[in-house]
This record gives sequence, structure tokens and C-alpha cells, in this order.
Amino acid sequence: MFDSGIGGLSVLKALRAELPLEDFVYVADSAYAPYGERTDAHVIGRTRTITAHLLARYHIKALVVACNTATAAAIELLRQDHPKLAIIGVEPALKPALAHSQTRRIGVMATRGTLQSVKFRTLLATLAEQVDFVCQPCDGLADAIERQETPRIKALCEIYTTAIGQFGTQAGQIDSLVLGCTHYPFASEQLTELLGSGVKLISNGEPVARQTRRLLPSFASGERPGQCLLLSTGASSSLELAAQYWLGWYGGVTPVLTFI
Ligand code: DGL
Repeated sequence: MFDSGIGGLSVLKALRAELPLEDFVYVADSAYAPYGERTDAHVIGRTRTITAHLLARYHIKALVVACNTATAAAIELLRQDHPKLAIIGVEPALKPALAHSQTRRIGVMATRGTLQSVKFRTLLATLAEQVDFVCQPCDGLADAIERQETPRIKALCEIYTTAIGQFGTQAGQIDSLVLGCTHYPFASEQLTELLGSGVKLISNGEPVARQTRRLLPSFASGERPGQCLLLSTGASSSLELAAQYWLGWYGGVTPVLTFI
């Protein structure tokens, strides 16, 4: 699995819970991040390079693209390149939000790349008649989360949620917020502080983990718990800190700097 940085750890957490016996290799492509404000060509190139590396070096049996931006830009091409590989992507959880919302007004935070993609626009178009989606590109937020700059995370969350509109559970208010970038669940605390606990934050680590289980061509067996290897193409300290903080991995899982 891979992401531009630490964001995919929010998906890894769900995957580990769903598939505790499987081994995972996680690539944080920090040297080439953020993806969300780069060209499609950049994201497609990195996606192809990382996938080729994971196949050749680790003989993976499935690939989770734990990044909405890379899924939107590259998953179709990747499936054409590797028709026999199980490839699972992540896209903003619009349908679960639709199922939850009572007010029929839903906010969507995502990267510019995701929101501009044909894949996202097509998904939105199929659902837009049923509810009102307010989409907000969140430049800089994934980067602030990556660097774990708390004041900047708070400031950007405030700017972007204010731009989306009025949140709450009354008629006309936005009662659900889709976190359409795998980094954003790591700002849940700040978002809940701003919006109140009545607003539901919706991300899709768990559905992605269930879909991965459905698509796996084979399962690890035995008693041995699955192992995780964390690789980073850039400074690995933020990946280590994030794994400690978000996954509770103190010691034992030290990210390895890798050149892909
Ligand atoms: N975590 C990524 C996503 O889900 C992208 C963050 C970025 O690099 O811009 O879209």
C-alpha cells in the first residue's frame, strides 16, 4: 500500500484490524508529496513507479492505493498495467454520507487534484440530485498534517469549514462532512472542536479494508500475527511519529528510508 505520506496510516489501521494475519508493506512517498496540488502526470508517474517496486521487491498479492488523489488520477491506468493484481482504491465516501445525512446537505473536504478529477466529478454527478454536496479544496492541509503543525492544522480547518458553510443538525445546515483525503482523519479532533460532535465526520478506512478482504486472492494462515514494514522516500521521522501516535506503535516498527 502507499500514500503520498502518513495519510494512508488511517487506512492501514483499519486493514490491520480486518486482516490481522496479513503482512503489509507501506510506502510513504514523502519526497514527492503532496500529491494533491501536483499534476496528474506526476501522480501517475509515482503511482506506477511505486507499484512496480512493490511487485518486484516484495511480490505483493494486492495493492491498496491508500490515497484519494492517486486513486482518482491513476487507478484505471494501474489496472490496465496489472490486470492480474488485486488493486483497491480509496475515494471520498459520498455514498455513506448520503446514507447518514438527515439535512441532505453534506460538506466534502479533499485535495484540489481529487475534486478536479473526472472520477470524482462522475461520482458526484450520479448523486448530486439527491443531496446538496458542498466541495472544498483544502490546499496545504495534508502538508500541515504531514508536518504535524498543529496551529496550522487548526487555522486551515477553520478557514475551510467556514468556507463550506453552516454546520449543524437543523434544516438547511450541513450535518455530515466527508474527509476525502486519507490525511484528514488525523485532523478529526480539530474538526470536531470546530463543528461540534453533532456533525458526523465520514472517512472510509473500514469499507476499504472490507473491500480488500473481498478481493484478496489468498489469505495468510496460522497463528503468527501479520508484520508491517514502513518505508518512506523522504524524511522518515514524521512517519515514525505518526505511527507511534496514531497506531500506538512504540518501538519495533522503525520506518526505513528507501529510494524508489
Ligand atoms: N492522502 C492523500 C489523499 O488521500 C493526498 C495528500 C496529498 O499528498 O496531497 O488524497
